[in-house]
Amino acid sequence: MNQNLYQKQEKSLLDDKITTKKLEINLKRNREQDNGDELDKLASEFVFEDCRDELWNPEKYSLLYATPLWHESSPSQKILLNQLYWVAYYSQIISAEIATIFLNQTSAAGLYSLEDFRLVCDTLDLESMQERGHINAFKTISEQVEEKLFGERLFTYPMKNFATETMIFQNTNRVKEFWKWMQLNAFSFLSSNNAFIACQYFTVRGLRTLKGKIVQHELGQFYDKHHDKVNAPIPSKISYHHFLDESYHFNSSSIIGHDVIHTLKKPTKFEAHIANMGITGCQKDHQHFNISVNGIFWYEPALFPVIYKVLRSPYFEFDHVGALQMMEKCFLMENQAMHLAYDTHNIASKSYQQYVDGLPYISKTNREMKLMKKTTIEKYLRTNKHAFKKFEVESERYLHHFIQGRKAPSTISGKGMQPQRNTQQL
Ligand SMILES: [Fe+2]
Ligand SMILES: [Fe+2]
Repeated sequence: MNQNLYQKQEKSLLDDKITTKKLEINLKRNREQDNGDELDKLASEFVFEDCRDELWNPEKYSLLYATPLWHESSPSQKILLNQLYWVAYYSQIISAEIATIFLNQTSAAGLYSLEDFRLVCDTLDLESMQERGHINAFKTISEQVEEKLFGERLFTYPMKNFATETMIFQNTNRVKEFWKWMQLNAFSFLSSNNAFIACQYFTVRGLRTLKGKIVQHELGQFYDKHHDKVNAPIPSKISYHHFLDESYHFNSSSIIGHDVIHTLKKPTKFEAHIANMGITGCQKDHQHFNISVNGIFWYEPALFPVIYKVLRSPYFEFDHVGALQMMEKCFLMENQAMHLAYDTHNIASKSYQQYVDGLPYISKTNREMKLMKKTTIEKYLRTNKHAFKKFEVESERYLHHFIQGRKAPSTISGKGMQPQRNTQQL
């Protein structure tokens, strides 16, 4: 910034030598370690049959881990649940990363309206390119698995707009979806026009990445500690390489959200309000926990149809009544899985509190993560019971799907399951 000529701003980012150094080191190291080529290679080499008999994650990161279904499953069914966790988990990450790519660009536009922000914008450009590589890897694996096992989508979805619901299994309806779409579009417009709002988008991004780190660190470690790294399953290699990139993204979120903010003018009431709205939105998105995919804060009833389909598939061979009974045992009766998922939720809300601590504009509701803290196991059970009654009626619709008799090729036996009560043959 040429100080000898008229400028619209008093401070330059480059005057903050420590922050500039942090940004330079983060960008340099991220460029040097970029996992893009490796992830592309892994995705192109993936053949499901090569690793369908192995765990892809630590065992506790399996679909419906520690539920009655898990305890009654055979070893091969547990492997399938483990692989489906990978598919489900990274399907959600794809959704978050689609939004990240767009909001990186709009925020870069907002920050580039100030002098000396090239370094920040170059960082974001690299990260957006990396996210496209991550999405490609997750999508390639997840879609191949769903196609080969079920012949249809369960957790995946066709490419979508950044402003559609970020949480792919959410407590939503057409009106709520439209409102969310409006809010995200408004936020993207504001962030591209306002440096403070753009800067504080990275506090929201940091919170979301923080939640990811809790699980992704362990998913990455599974490969890192694998006894045969060369022949380890490709999805676990992808988890590892993705985590390496993401650790740099988390650093940049922290530096931009916590340090760069000091070179900007103090926020107006309006700017502080919008930035708080972003954090409240994150709390709302993360207010639920679920036992289907521990670590992703989806709304459990939204998953009922998918879990039903998994149970009815040739890999579990439940009939209609048996599937509903197993779901009742998993979702409506307190069990170990609920305590594990609730613990993850608590860890997240505590780490979010620490993350926003010290930011001057944060409201009390956000500082104390009050919305997230409203969640309890009792409330979770009440919600599920209410929603399950509706699902039981609606599930008649799913019956039609199975009556049509479309069967996926089954190589995983369902024999390990205990017999179901009151089963009804279709
Ligand atoms: Fe990513
Ligand atoms: Fe990222």
